[in-house]
Amino acid sequence: MAEKGFRISKTPVWKKLKEHAEEMRRPEYHLKHLVKQQDRLSRFSLQNIDFFYDFSRQRVTNKTMDLLFELAETADVATKYHNMVEGCKVNVTENRAALHTAARSFPGQSLMVDGVDVMHEIGSVRERIRRFTKEVHTGILRGSTGKHFRHVVIIGIGGSYLGTEFVSQALFAFADKGISLHFLSNVDSHNFETVKRQIEPEETLCIIISKSFTTVETMANAMIMKTYLKECGLDPAQHTVTVTSKGSPGDIQGECIETFHMFDYIGGRFSVTSAVGGVPLSLALGYERFERFLDGAREMDIHTKYAPVQENIPLVSALIGIWNNNFLGYQAQGIIPYASPLAKLAPHIQQLNMESNGKSVTINNVELDASSGVIIFGEPGTNAQHSFFQLAHQGHPFPIDFIGMVSPQYEQGDCKPHGVSNHQELWANLVSQATALAIGKDSKDKTRFFQGNRPSSTLLLNDLSPANIGRLLSYYEAQTVYKAFIWDINPFDQFGVELGKTIANDLRREIVTKNGNPEYRFSQTDEITRFYLETLFHGKLKDQQ
Ligand code: F6P
Repeated sequence: MAEKGFRISKTPVWKKLKEHAEEMRRPEYHLKHLVKQQDRLSRFSLQNIDFFYDFSRQRVTNKTMDLLFELAETADVATKYHNMVEGCKVNVTENRAALHTAARSFPGQSLMVDGVDVMHEIGSVRERIRRFTKEVHTGILRGSTGKHFRHVVIIGIGGSYLGTEFVSQALFAFADKGISLHFLSNVDSHNFETVKRQIEPEETLCIIISKSFTTVETMANAMIMKTYLKECGLDPAQHTVTVTSKGSPGDIQGECIETFHMFDYIGGRFSVTSAVGGVPLSLALGYERFERFLDGAREMDIHTKYAPVQENIPLVSALIGIWNNNFLGYQAQGIIPYASPLAKLAPHIQQLNMESNGKSVTINNVELDASSGVIIFGEPGTNAQHSFFQLAHQGHPFPIDFIGMVSPQYEQGDCKPHGVSNHQELWANLVSQATALAIGKDSKDKTRFFQGNRPSSTLLLNDLSPANIGRLLSYYEAQTVYKAFIWDINPFDQFGVELGKTIANDLRREIVTKNGNPEYRFSQTDEITRFYLETLFHGKLKDQQ
């Protein structure tokens, strides 16, 4: 463990990297030259089973990589990762372990935390998911009027929602159980009304997912859904399961069909391989496919744990992320999958990464003097090309993760517009965008000049199988924690989301008072806040004078 007061930015290797970054700004290190280096691709790419990671179009040389490997050694990331997967209390501010990797580990092995075998706990929840799913699919379990469940409404937000939405969309081609998933996350009546129009209440199962079971948005939506089911003459208890931590207000075995436990050693944004994703994904895809997804995640976890620094794909990508952020000065990161089923990857990684690594103190409570975390955003290609790629090519530069799949999930048949299949067209675009960003284009006409030297990585998966989606998920999770381990921050807490919630609590009290007494004046608030509260009650913007 790093000693108290340790700051990675004060280490000699950090200084060497700063100096090296200056060197790398010289014209001879422009990517248009680097990509022509002999064996560039083989020297700057890695593969593990079905996962290919190409960083040949990053602004790195052998020297950069050697310095980054030295940085990893200095930050002692291997020990930190090992401590995490062995169940040490690496989430120091909350005195918790961080064992999302155990959620896809082998049952039968044992891993003790606070005297409890977590593998036994996880294994028994998985077994209950398997049994429950089978009962729903075979019709043993039905709604209160005897109809089969065909609609599943997932009520949850943040980490209790985003990962499941990403995986369920990515694997939609495998959703052959006659069950549609609907997501009710936002405390916005439009979200509820949209879901309401898509479901048949008698055929609806609600999964309320909340680790704390106190999250305002989730509790509000759960109550609205319960009221709606009652209005439809149904017994909500026979249409509801909960996924929550032991002893939470939602641990209501007996008052609903079933409660599945999630554990305090798995953080919300790392929880898609636990019951959080397990229950809805098994319902939509079948339990066996959920297990294949876990298998893929486990394989990538094993690679991450045992591969040496130089060959460790998530670690190398974390180092390159830090190089881009802290040394080359890029503050944003695009995630552009050339695969529409991965449309929700970027929003999931956005929460995973930005909630984990958007921190300003180290694990020892020392102010961090290097920026941690980057702004993550993304859309599938080629849609992204017709949206914000103008800026990517000629405006503010940002590194990109391009993601491609070798085979699509569907056959196209013989129709080949422009002589190529749509998948071939997609592939041509994936390859050409990364090249264009790297090499740029000279032109005397400044409007047609492309500066180039814009870095990207390319990840390739053979296909979008459940196992490959598991690998992709585990890759980004490991990359996220490795970055945190280098900065020496805690990626498992999220105190930054609290202040806004506290102010909303105060305003809610004001609104409650006004609801009960229309004469009440918002005297407790500042002028700007008062304007917004009064406008809410006025029902429309005031007429302009
Ligand atoms: O936004 C903060 C947060 O606590 C996330 O970290 C979490 O995933 C989400 O809210 C939902 O929390 P819960 O599962 O307790 O409802």
